[in-house]
Amino acid sequence: MSQKVVFLPGDGIGKEVAAGARQVLDECSGRHQLNLQVEEYDLGGTAIDKHGEPLPQFVLDACLESKIVFLGAVGDPRFDASPPHLRPEKALLGLRKALELFANLRPIRTYSELIDASTLKREVIEDVDILIVRELTGGIYFGEPRGLETRSGNRVGFNTEIYADYEVERISRIAFEASRLRSGRVTSVDKSNVLESSQLWRVVVEEVAKDYSDVKLDHLLIDNCAMQLVARPRSFDVLLTNNMFGDILSDEAAMLTGSIGMLPSASVGATGGEGRVGLYEPVHGSAPDIAGQDKANPLAAIGCVALLFRYSLDRDDIACQIEQAIEKVLSEGIRTGDIAVAGSRVVGTCEMVDAVLERL
Ligand code: IPM
Ligand code: MG
Repeated sequence: MSQKVVFLPGDGIGKEVAAGARQVLDECSGRHQLNLQVEEYDLGGTAIDKHGEPLPQFVLDACLESKIVFLGAVGDPRFDASPPHLRPEKALLGLRKALELFANLRPIRTYSELIDASTLKREVIEDVDILIVRELTGGIYFGEPRGLETRSGNRVGFNTEIYADYEVERISRIAFEASRLRSGRVTSVDKSNVLESSQLWRVVVEEVAKDYSDVKLDHLLIDNCAMQLVARPRSFDVLLTNNMFGDILSDEAAMLTGSIGMLPSASVGATGGEGRVGLYEPVHGSAPDIAGQDKANPLAAIGCVALLFRYSLDRDDIACQIEQAIEKVLSEGIRTGDIAVAGSRVVGTCEMVDAVLERL
């Protein structure tokens, strides 16, 4: 029996890191006789160029059918002035919504070898191990009404931050369940001192917490959380956030690890078992400034392949092998430019991929 995996390289460095991730996937699949069939499709700006829209229906259908999707990155400055439905980012948002990927898991772990690549002090970031559980299909990203209008002669832009109780409940459950496999602590992030949507968020999280009396729950306001995250990052276990706060905090948390080029993420949806779709994407974007120059760090994308084996194929063993190969490469001082320090052997994207493959 063969299992399809859809690869969506997307734009910019997405193409380069996806190629590397695919090599790692193929290697593991071959070695463990898994018979994974990779199919590649255009997405984002690349799809606008070729098919006139960022997320063509046939691409979406392929994702729905395969249930396992790898995404490189989307984003291309050529479309900066385009209307929202013709921007590359729309592909990502449309995919998350259509596949009902309401939970985005972003593990933030510092590699001891990379401590010096961070701008923060060693004693602050050593042994950081956080899981950001970000709500991904609701909130201000999708809330209606939204738009650009002229009101009384003034141009206005507006969006709606809105959450229904069931949306908060299901993402909370993911966070509580995840924390049980870790150190059993959840910090829920909100802005309940100002926003009604956050007041509901906090109430529902408290209700869900009653089913998880073994998990320790606390709440932090987003502004304070942003500060605590760099002040005492080691004290966090699972960070539960809405869509917007998770977007911001995950970029901030990336600096704890030295580079956003190191962070993989997994997005999962509603139904368990058969219906469940997993989308794996690096947290970094398409980085048009370095695209096509063999400079991108492929380790986040390769880390995504590890998550893919862990969450969609139930092969924690293979996931661990990939993660160990990454650690091995780092411990030998092999680095792409973004994580290089004095004395590193600086390599390009392809060479980094080869280095990981050799150590697998
Ligand atoms: C992310 C990205 C996306 C987001 C963009 C590209 C739409 O920043 O995945 O964090 O805001 O969700
Ligand atoms: Mg982001």
